[in-house]
Parts: sequence; C-alpha cells; structure tokens
Amino acid sequence: MDHFLYRDGALHAEDVAIADIARTVGTPFYVYSAATLTRHFRLFDEALSWAPSHLVCFAMKSLSNQAVLKLLGDLGAGMDVVSGGEYARARAAGVPGERIVFSGVGKTRTEMRAALEGGIRQFNLESEPEMEALNEVALSLGTVAPVTVRVNPDVDARTHEKIATGRKGDKFGIPIARASEVYARIAALPGLKAIGIDVHIGSQLTQLEPFEQAYLKVADLTERLRAEGHEITRLDLGGGLGIPYTRSNEAPPLPVEYGQLVERTLGHLGCEIEIEPGRLISGNAGLMVSQVIYVKEGESTRFLILDGAMNDLIRPAMYGAWHDIIPVAEAAPGVEQQLYDIVGPVCESGDTFAKGRALPPMASGDLVAFRSAGAYGAVMSSEYNTRPLIPEVLVQGDHFAVIRARPTFDEIIARDTIPEWL
Ligand code: LLP
Repeated sequence: MDHFLYRDGALHAEDVAIADIARTVGTPFYVYSAATLTRHFRLFDEALSWAPSHLVCFAMKSLSNQAVLKLLGDLGAGMDVVSGGEYARARAAGVPGERIVFSGVGKTRTEMRAALEGGIRQFNLESEPEMEALNEVALSLGTVAPVTVRVNPDVDARTHEKIATGRKGDKFGIPIARASEVYARIAALPGLKAIGIDVHIGSQLTQLEPFEQAYLKVADLTERLRAEGHEITRLDLGGGLGIPYTRSNEAPPLPVEYGQLVERTLGHLGCEIEIEPGRLISGNAGLMVSQVIYVKEGESTRFLILDGAMNDLIRPAMYGAWHDIIPVAEAAPGVEQQLYDIVGPVCESGDTFAKGRALPPMASGDLVAFRSAGAYGAVMSSEYNTRPLIPEVLVQGDHFAVIRARPTFDEIIARDTIPEWL
C-alpha cells in the first residue's frame, strides 16, 4: 500500500498534487511519501514485536537522503550502512551510533576507525583479513569492536542474478562450514567481541522459502557456536524482502508473514533480532516524475521521449527492471490506449525504460510517474551526459519540501579543475 493516488483525475502524493510539485521544482524529480515510509517501517517493527528485543535497521543504500533518515530515525529505526559516507550521513541525520550496523565486504581501516570513534552497534565481518584489520584498528584505539560474522549459507535467493548474495560463489560472507574456526579465532583476538551472527542472502526475494533455508542454518549454527562456548545473543537477518513492481503480479510475502517465519525458525533461541530491510520500506514510498519532451513516430514504434533518463533511474537499463509508468493526469474513462516505447534523451539505446507500454495518448509537456522508484532510484543516479543530479522531494500531508536541490550547470562545471599547466 502507498499514498500515491488519483484525486479528481490528478495524481497526488498524499495531499499534494504531483503537477504542483512539478511546477515548482521542474522535472524530472523523485518524490517520497512520509506516510508510506512510516507505515512500512512500522510494519516491520510490529512484525518483530514477539522478540525479546529487536531493531529494524533501514538499509540506507536504498534511499539515503538525510530527511528520510531523520524521519525513520525519529521513529526508532537503526541504520545499516555500507561505507564511511553512509555512516557519516546517518550520523549527520541524527541517528546515534548505537543504532548503526556496519555491513559490506570491503570496509577500510579508515572507515573502521571513524565508526569506532563515532560509536557503532556492531560490524558485520565478511572475511578473515577484515577481521584481523578490525582487531588491529580497535586495539590502536584502546577499544573492543562488537562484531558478528556474516555467514554465507549457500542458499539460492531465487532473485535477479546481480542481487543474489548467499550462494557459494558470491563474494559475500564466510562459508558457514568455516564458522566454528572463525569464531574461535575471534575469541582469541583482544580487539574483537563476537556477539552474534549475520546473514543476508539477496534482494527482491518474492518467496519465503530461501529465507527459511538460510534461517534454519543460522539456528543450527547458533546452537553449535553456543556449545563451543560462544555467547550468541544477537541475530542480524539482513534485508531482502521484495515488493510488488506491478499491480498485476503475485504479491510477495508481507512483513508480518516474514516476522512469523523468523519467530518459527529462530524464536526459540531467545536472541535479539535485527533486520536490514531497504526496498520494502522505501521502494513503494517513491515515484520518479518526468515530462514528455516529444512523441516521435518511428518506423515501427511510437517513442515517448522523456526528460528523465537512465542516469536518473538506472534500474531498467541495469537489471531489465520493470516499473509501472502511469500518466499524472488520469486518462478519461473509455480513452483508447496506445503503445509506446518509453525512452530518455541519453545517447545510447540502453536508455530505454520500457517497450510497448500502454498509455493514453500522450503529448509534449504531459507528466508521467514511475512507480516503485523510491528504492535504488535517486541513490543510483548520476550526472552522465552532464545532466544535473535529479532532485528529491518529500511530502508529508499537504506540504512538501525539496530535500535535495537540482544543481545548476555552474555548480556542476565548477566541480572540475583545469590544471594550471594545461
Ligand atoms: N543488507 C545488506 C547486507 C545488503 O547488501 C542489502 C542490499 C540490504 C540489506 C537491503 O536489501 P533490500 O531489503 O533493499 O532488498 N540496486 C539493486 C539492489 C541492490 C541490493 C544490495 N544489497 C536494485 O536496484 O534492485
């Protein structure tokens, strides 16, 4: 469920007309609904309310604008960060260090130091060299780093090849079979304290079975490690629950069903439960809005040429992802739809959002909205073709604010330096 609905034929974000935002901000832009973000966070929070304690750490890689982080942080969310930049952003948005978990396969010593100095809930370790490095950094600061080990359970998440992370050949985690050895080593390192286990098998999962397989393995491992004398009190179960990208397809499981699965597979262990959802919180909380520049009649195809492009929303070009694309002015009943190839102005054929999409007849100046664009949209945008970084807008009730402004050409150009010797 989201808060982007037509009212009197005009698409709204909560109580704000999208066309009003477009008039003020220009196009293209992203718009997020505070009510949808809040609702999705609460669904997860409630789904884990059975646990002795729990924390929903928003995977901010999916949407990292500080206004969104502040909104979720104020609701009690933690953050899952994967870089020093994300850590700094979360802190700048007011999220306390004790609610930040640090994931990622290649944390540098500089990043480790910054997080240890600024405060951190835990590091999710992904390799032995990283473990040795963190031990050294912690000792140099005279502290002890709380850690989990991300285990690779060798489970196929049955998702897009590029976002599956829990199979043997994937670069993530430590093979679950080697966990005993690794936890024994950690116990011998004075700069590290193992507190739990971490697992994340992939993104946009539309079934619960892969989670179940992975979590059953984590349950076994918890008991094994406890028997070996390790204190395992926290389980970080990653993110990955998928969202519906089309209104017609089968609905992925709900957070409440996911929460029940976690309880069924891991509840008996009495651990604190942590999860790292990104997409399910932010995905359907955002639209990308774009304007038609031209309708071009090709030889065999009718092209809708938009002012948004692959640099603004790369998911279709990168993963072949589907986003529903809808007109901002609702079609009058009975209007016959036409088929369009929907493209951006960037100079490569890959800059195609969709082929053969049915829309009411469109004309230059009309607005369209890409649904389910809140996650991995703005965060993956770039200035390719020297197209200014796409702005972001947050709506709450009947008001909106620009939360990332569109840079001017002068600002973009001023970032380059031409050396004196040229
Ligand atoms: N935790 C870890 C360690 C992750 O690597 C990820 C996502 C998440 C949590 C959050 O997963 P989510 O709940 O959002 O599925 N750019 C791709 C998605 C990449 C996901 C990377 N890791 C896309 O546009 O589909």
